Amino acid sequence: MSTDGVRAAPRGWRSAGDLWQSRGFPMGLYARHVAPRMVSWVCGLGIYDGPRRTLVSAARGRVLEIGMGSGHNLRFYDPAKVEMLWGLEPDATMRKLAAPRIAAAPVAVRLLDLPGEEIPLEDDAVDTVLSTLTMCTIPDLARALAQVRRVLKPGGALLFLEHGEDPEEPVRRWQRRLEPAWKRFAGGCHLTRPIPRLIEDAGFRLERLETWRLAGASGRFVPSALKALGSFDYAGAAAID
Ligand SMILES: C[S@@+](CC[C@H](N)C(=O)[O-])C[C@H]1O[C@@H](n2cnc3c(N)ncnc32)[C@H](O)[C@@H]1O
Repeated sequence: MSTDGVRAAPRGWRSAGDLWQSRGFPMGLYARHVAPRMVSWVCGLGIYDGPRRTLVSAARGRVLEIGMGSGHNLRFYDPAKVEMLWGLEPDATMRKLAAPRIAAAPVAVRLLDLPGEEIPLEDDAVDTVLSTLTMCTIPDLARALAQVRRVLKPGGALLFLEHGEDPEEPVRRWQRRLEPAWKRFAGGCHLTRPIPRLIEDAGFRLERLETWRLAGASGRFVPSALKALGSFDYAGAAAID
């Protein structure tokens, strides 16, 4: 083990792009250049600023952020609480977009350019894992959550802010209808993942869970098809028993 808890790259290591391509991920111009910019723009709209601030400021000790994207969380880390921060992001365009936010971040960021299914850290290496709007996109989420569990110390916390399956069946029907096209358009994002259940299935205990729906929050009527894209959100903390 190296001193900072990062494992050596395994023999035959390939870049994230190679891995995605070998798994059939369409690495066309759109997937490589347009989708990451569009996703980064949507993630930066500000509707999530409040929940991001609350969640990220609770991160402490050695922290791993999975699917860091273009770094919209970085400004919210508290340097008095964070000892070390790894930012895992497999997409090269996202890492490029993150560069100015990394330079301006209140804590130093160590980039890991691998997917969440292959976290290159030792067992029990981190106190906090943070995931925002990422569990919708990771192709093999069960495998990634098993990795998160492996690297999280006993007593550590998985902090999450995610969107997924809506509680209303008419909206869920639209989510199922729209998901195949949406996934292609939005960089692999799924609409229908029941995030809290998937976290529990991976062996975590939910310590805190808040839910809300963005579309229709004002009380005005919103058609189910729009609610399906408007996103049902979950924020909370999970621990290992
Ligand atoms: C919707 S973006 C969210 C980015 C960021 N977390 C935020 O809140 O702004 C989803 C991110 O997950 C990343 N991602 C995709 N596949 C992944 C994987 N297998 N492991 C980890 N991250 C992945 C994408 O590259 C993208 O940056």
